[in-house]
Amino acid sequence: MAVRLGDTAPDFTAPTTQGEISFHEWLGDSWGVLFSHPKDFTPVCTTELGYVATIKPEFDKRNVKVIGLSVDPVDSHVDWEKDIEETQGQAVNFPMIGDPDRNVADLYDMIHENANDTLTVRSVFVIGPDKKVKLTITYPASTGRNFDEILRVIDSLQLTADHKVATPANWTDGEDVIIVPALSDDEARDLFPGGWEPVKPYLRVTKQPNR
Ligand code: BEZ
Repeated sequence: MAVRLGDTAPDFTAPTTQGEISFHEWLGDSWGVLFSHPKDFTPVCTTELGYVATIKPEFDKRNVKVIGLSVDPVDSHVDWEKDIEETQGQAVNFPMIGDPDRNVADLYDMIHENANDTLTVRSVFVIGPDKKVKLTITYPASTGRNFDEILRVIDSLQLTADHKVATPANWTDGEDVIIVPALSDDEARDLFPGGWEPVKPYLRVTKQPNR
């Protein structure tokens, strides 16, 4: 069964490169990114894991814990990490789940049999501190993900969690935002004392509130 937006992220216990974890307990009060890659010792995956390790301080800044997964065992992840450090110039600095029995992959529907019946696709799940799934993305094996986009979505999710705003197409942190349509103009006046630009009654553009 697919994991969908708003669902509680399935909990599990699994071995990782940093010891066994119970997922919800490991997340604690943090946000989380759980992402799968198809296979260890493969080229695109090597670049992805190296890049995620490089931008880990950006996840830390946002109170986000990152964890990877494939159906390879932990021993294989540990061996592969040496190659990642050598070729990508950055040691892997987050846990990777070893899931040879596909327990977690099945829980999160990460194996799409019509694409490949044994390997996980490139799934991404962003999970909020309430353990609800906030974002799901699926990429094919041949396309490395844009992890800067994942950070951008987290910025948007964290902003909308705290303020009654949504973010427009291609928004990045610091740019103007949109007052959610559910808020009346009277309610909006209290929350946005600086006002807004009424492009249309349903499209009210305002400065980013937490700036
Ligand atoms: C890769 O990471 O390069 C890859 C992995 C599985 C299938 C195709 C490509």
